[in-house]
Amino acid sequence: MSDTKRRKIALVTGANQGLGLALVRGLCQVLGESGTVYLGTRDEARGRAARDLLRGEGLRPELMAIDVGEDASVQAVADAVRARHGGIDIVVSNAAQRISKDIPSAEQVAGFVNTNNHGTRRMMRALVPLLRDNARFIVVASSFGSLRNLDASLHPKFDGRDLTLDAIEQAMDEYAAAVRSGTAASARWPDWINVPSKIGQVAAVRVLARNGDAEFRRRGILVNAACPGLVDTDASRPWFDDMSKAASPDEAARDLIWLATLPPAAVEPYGELVRNRRPLPWK
Ligand SMILES: NC(=O)c1ccc[n+]([C@@H]2O[C@H](COP(=O)([O-])OP(=O)(O)OC[C@H]3O[C@@H](n4cnc5c(N)ncnc54)[C@H](OP(=O)(O)O)[C@@H]3O)[C@@H](O)[C@H]2O)c1
Repeated sequence: MSDTKRRKIALVTGANQGLGLALVRGLCQVLGESGTVYLGTRDEARGRAARDLLRGEGLRPELMAIDVGEDASVQAVADAVRARHGGIDIVVSNAAQRISKDIPSAEQVAGFVNTNNHGTRRMMRALVPLLRDNARFIVVASSFGSLRNLDASLHPKFDGRDLTLDAIEQAMDEYAAAVRSGTAASARWPDWINVPSKIGQVAAVRVLARNGDAEFRRRGILVNAACPGLVDTDASRPWFDDMSKAASPDEAARDLIWLATLPPAAVEPYGELVRNRRPLPWK
């Protein structure tokens, strides 16, 4: 079957609520009968509730159990996708652990890095080999993920021609260890754990794009990070007194859906952090 006629297969992680749920809703609407959209959830009951909500809107997402914090869970999803479909067209790595204001960073950082950074890497390791021609692989990051938010002394950990995905994960583990031992500030890491984490995610996308460059470009595959802007979700609400300027999840999802459904002929954005449909500067 030609690439344009084949059923499109999409997966969004962390999709039982917040932005992820809106992404599944939008992908179901855009792909319609010609697509299968997997609503990735680590919790079956919450996933079922989200699926039923969308069913009530006339949409037909499929549930997919996935905990991005676990190698085996992510690999099982890749195995299931391979067995059922042979490949995948759209992957949105959206799942993220929240940061609690009431818990010291030292107690949150390891889980945060495991979910948000190592989880992104697990998704790359397991799902990138399944990408079909013209696939779109998106990591939901943030404009905090620009290297300019990091002290220059730390830039080599996330930037450079020889940088590897493994080295980025190691840098994130070093960061987590520094937070736990109380040495992060003296090593010039930012206070807020979301900043190094998002930089690590964007750096990983850049390395993935660079490593895959020849093949991805030949096969029309686009890999990007995306910033949804401030979104009104249970994750962001505790951090802002005034959410009047925040987008609803459905509003914020629109530009990400655009990125995820760029037509086969699109050659850019590629390897970028994209916000409002435009690349943000890395440095
Ligand atoms: N909200 C904003 O203003 C904003 C701004 C910039 C970027 N972002 C990014 O947008 C993405 C979504 O944010 P959000 O505000 O929608 O967050 P959210 O409401 O907290 O949703 C996060 C989702 O990730 C899931 N999740 C957490 N740990 C997981 C794991 N180990 N495996 C699989 N799923 C897991 C959660 O599942 P449970 O329901 O089971 O906890 C939930 O479904 C994140 O990457 C975030 O960093 C958000």
